[in-house]
Amino acid sequence: MTAPAPLAGRERPAGPGSLDVDRRDRREPSARSCRRPAEPGSLDVDHLREAFPILDQEVHGHPLVYLDNAASSQRPDVVIDAISDCYRTYYANAHRGVHTLSERSTDAYEAARGGIARFIGATGSAELIFTRGATESLNLVAQSYARPRLGPGDEVLLTEMEHHSNIVPWQLACEQTGARVRAAGVTDAGDLDLGAMAGLIGERTRVVALTHVSNALGTVNDVAAVVELVRDRSDAAVVVDGAQAVPHMEVDVSALGCDFYAFSGHKMYGPGGIGGLWGRAELLASMPPYHGGGAMITRVTFDRTEYTAPPHRFEAGTPSIAPAIGLGVAVEFLESVGLGRIERHEQELLSHTMEVLGELPWVRVLGHPAPAAGAPRAAVVSLVIDGAHPHDVATILDEQGIAIRAGHHCAQPLMERLGVPATVRASFGMYNTHEEVDRLAAGLHEVRRIFG
Ligand code: ALA
Repeated sequence: MTAPAPLAGRERPAGPGSLDVDRRDRREPSARSCRRPAEPGSLDVDHLREAFPILDQEVHGHPLVYLDNAASSQRPDVVIDAISDCYRTYYANAHRGVHTLSERSTDAYEAARGGIARFIGATGSAELIFTRGATESLNLVAQSYARPRLGPGDEVLLTEMEHHSNIVPWQLACEQTGARVRAAGVTDAGDLDLGAMAGLIGERTRVVALTHVSNALGTVNDVAAVVELVRDRSDAAVVVDGAQAVPHMEVDVSALGCDFYAFSGHKMYGPGGIGGLWGRAELLASMPPYHGGGAMITRVTFDRTEYTAPPHRFEAGTPSIAPAIGLGVAVEFLESVGLGRIERHEQELLSHTMEVLGELPWVRVLGHPAPAAGAPRAAVVSLVIDGAHPHDVATILDEQGIAIRAGHHCAQPLMERLGVPATVRASFGMYNTHEEVDRLAAGLHEVRRIFG
């Protein structure tokens, strides 16, 4: 197994990626107070980049600048090696065999669950369900938690800044039950209008679902404040789409006070096709299965079936074993680098980006012009250039080796609210550099030159 690249300045010498299942910590997640040490020092980004083999390449004759991390991030060697190691040395089906390989796979799969649960502040690993990603997690909550509780006249409250994956599952559940979807407004600066939201929460509100961080604007929602609003006014469950938060800031679901929290592995330097849903133990225990099949039952007859307890009740069929193990290693990697360091580094990149874009009067940045006190934003920058279609901008940037996303970012209601059909979006990760911000600015100058 390849040892992780040493990361200068990190406080934890532990090697993220070790998959020696005999040595892995299989304890249940512990309380938050003993989760993370203090994080002095800053990130040695040059060193960190060596852990990500894909970054070391040229695109169209230029060194790759990867600024599409909100769509999907890249993976460090340790994650790639962990998956390969699983398939090469100990893979077998989990929870189904008494033979040695099956037990090793089961142990590694469950150890990954424990590590990921601890990482997000869960009180126990049984609260963490493996899914294919945030989208499946949200569909699971909509169908297994909400649908049985919704009826005609009931309401599901969303926000105008939601990704389609936190809109469509609720629309489906509402169509099936006669309930209706409502949406809390967003201000011109891209913030959630909490006052307006409060006015929309009432006794018919059964669910409030919101994103922790907007994938299109980078707006960071004050989830704890929303939870407080909801608890004061209703019995609604609070469901959080955390896909854009978990890789970029410390997340503690217990401290947030929400009821469900969804995230995707591929955005947090882990494998694709794997993600998680955290839910309060008592809510999960009250929910029927989402999918039926093997591994989620205790007894099956043709008359009736009895189900296992969570989390396995929600994991029908052979699980994504190697991806789950890879995600566990990605979490160890994130912890070894340090979420505090990552957040500080990405905030510096954001400030630098705002500064250089602020010098380009023909570029309009959506959301806050700069990170402001009381209005935090993550390192996601959506912009429009007068007279240049975002897809053309993306193509010109790609010719210079710069990968960004152009489009509506699966957030069409937000685009409509902001009065734009699409934007150019640069989204940063732990391995991006200030030089790459300057390359982006130079690329935009080239766009300007071409479009006059
Ligand atoms: N949700 C992903 C994005 O924002 C795909 O690009």
